[in-house]
Amino acid sequence: MKTLIFGILVGLTHISYGQAPYLKDRYNFPIGASINPRLVSENNAYRNVAITEFTSITAENHMKMMLVHPEANRFDFSKGDEIVTFAKDHKKRIHGHTLVWHNQVPKWMNEFSGDTQAWENMLKNHIQEVARHYKGQVAGWDVVNESFLDDGSLRPTVWSKNIPDYIAKSFQWAHEADPNAILFYNDYGQDGKPKKMQAILNLVKDLQARNIPIHGLGLQMHININSKNDELVNVINQSAKTGLTIHFSELDIAVNPKNDSMFVYHETAKKAQQEKFELVFKAYQELPKHQQYGITFWNVSDRDSWLRGYFKRPKEYPLLFDDTYTRKPIYSKLLN
Ligand code: G3I
Repeated sequence: MKTLIFGILVGLTHISYGQAPYLKDRYNFPIGASINPRLVSENNAYRNVAITEFTSITAENHMKMMLVHPEANRFDFSKGDEIVTFAKDHKKRIHGHTLVWHNQVPKWMNEFSGDTQAWENMLKNHIQEVARHYKGQVAGWDVVNESFLDDGSLRPTVWSKNIPDYIAKSFQWAHEADPNAILFYNDYGQDGKPKKMQAILNLVKDLQARNIPIHGLGLQMHININSKNDELVNVINQSAKTGLTIHFSELDIAVNPKNDSMFVYHETAKKAQQEKFELVFKAYQELPKHQQYGITFWNVSDRDSWLRGYFKRPKEYPLLFDDTYTRKPIYSKLLN
């Protein structure tokens, strides 16, 4: 109820002030946000910003395994569909996230037992049911998410332990189910982790050599004000050299990465954050046009960020909209 009243008040403020010009008009690639369907329906301010500011929508959680496939014989697309309807009603592109991940895996999958063939059938069925359900609605999919550790080794997960070559197979299965979707491998934290970066480049080479359909790389870009510029640029350049489509898929720039309870979002931190956002946008803008899938922010305003909720960092301000859904000064810097 509190959220509802807050949302209505802030929503009214936004309508009366007007907001143009927009980032989405300034850059000639999609500007997206991941969203939460509960906030879309309960919070007018959230909904207004999502509608007016973004041209691409990702489900922050509601297309993941645990949410769409809670039981072995039951899919639940209700919340994912809500997001699709919202995006379609407002003429947004939809990006699918994510078909295979080691997090937010339903209990029944984690406890699944069977031989290799049974595991393959189970994962193939999951990928293809979901990809077919959203066929023609999503432009692309994060097919496989976060498969490598920092040292470049394959992350030990239920998938890597039970299905040999699961990454290649997942791409193949996704492609069979939705041949027109742009298929991404999505990962985080490649900056300053050359072995992880190399593992991803090796994966791309290997898949391409075997004619496995991979079309894009998602660079999540959960970075912070101390992330090193040269390392970020290096990761972006190396990724672009693959020739694949590049998506900055989950952008946020943390200002209080150590969760200092006394943290104040002071001018120095704001300036450092602004410079980092500028660097990210500039680097993206410099990519060849045909490789630009877009930049997606990981949720809408600071108060909706996973860094506050999931990481319990109340004094974190990683996005372009503040707690009242007002554009921060960084926004106008990015317009220029
Ligand atoms: O919906 C339930 C709610 O019913 C329950 O009361 C509450 C109690 O904990 O949990 C709620 O679910 C939470 C869910 O977010 C929705 O808010 C989960 O606990 C929480 O674990 C989950 O966190 C998500 C996280 O992925 C899971 O690892 C974050 O929202 C989401 O932003 C985050 O997104 C990931 C990307 O998918 C992949 N890249 C990294 C990124 C950040 O971790």
